[in-house]
Amino acid sequence: MIPYRDAKKVEIRETMKILFVCLGNICRSPTAEGVFRKKAADAGILDRLTVDSAGTNNYHPGEPPDARTQVHALKRGYDLSMLRARAVQDIDFEQFDWLLAMDSLNYSTLLHRAEPAYRPKIRRFMEFAPQLNVREVPDPYYGERGDFEYVLDLVEAASDGLIAELKQRLG
Ligand code: 4NP
Repeated sequence: MIPYRDAKKVEIRETMKILFVCLGNICRSPTAEGVFRKKAADAGILDRLTVDSAGTNNYHPGEPPDARTQVHALKRGYDLSMLRARAVQDIDFEQFDWLLAMDSLNYSTLLHRAEPAYRPKIRRFMEFAPQLNVREVPDPYYGERGDFEYVLDLVEAASDGLIAELKQRLG
């Protein structure tokens, strides 16, 4: 038996696992992953989090984010070049605490795919920026420059709200 004075104090620190989800995982959800990672690092909570992104479709497996997405993100200081696209897998519903959908289509796709016990984990990302009164991050894929900037505006606001909530939960 280890004498009490020698026993290591084991501190259990709560963590959260967050998955950002869009359709292709090359525009919106990698933007959310990159923006959120940087903001979480700046807030000092990234080491308490697992952060990833995925698509409800498998259009671009293994590809880096869309070139336009990367250019616009980099202008605001977010480097997305290391990210690679992947599809949502069944195990994601088990492993992540929250699956945050970028729009209504992806929200309902996730709800349909999830076993009932996992459905409460599925939320809309824009819930975290209620002040904007916007429900969706719109798909910029067939859009113009301003659409990519708008994605960043929304993602930055929702990331700030998500970080505020996580800080409270993680203590
Ligand atoms: P995302 O955008 O869902 O934000 O990654 C899209 C990317 C690719 C396609 C559609 C949306 N696509 O049709 O290939």
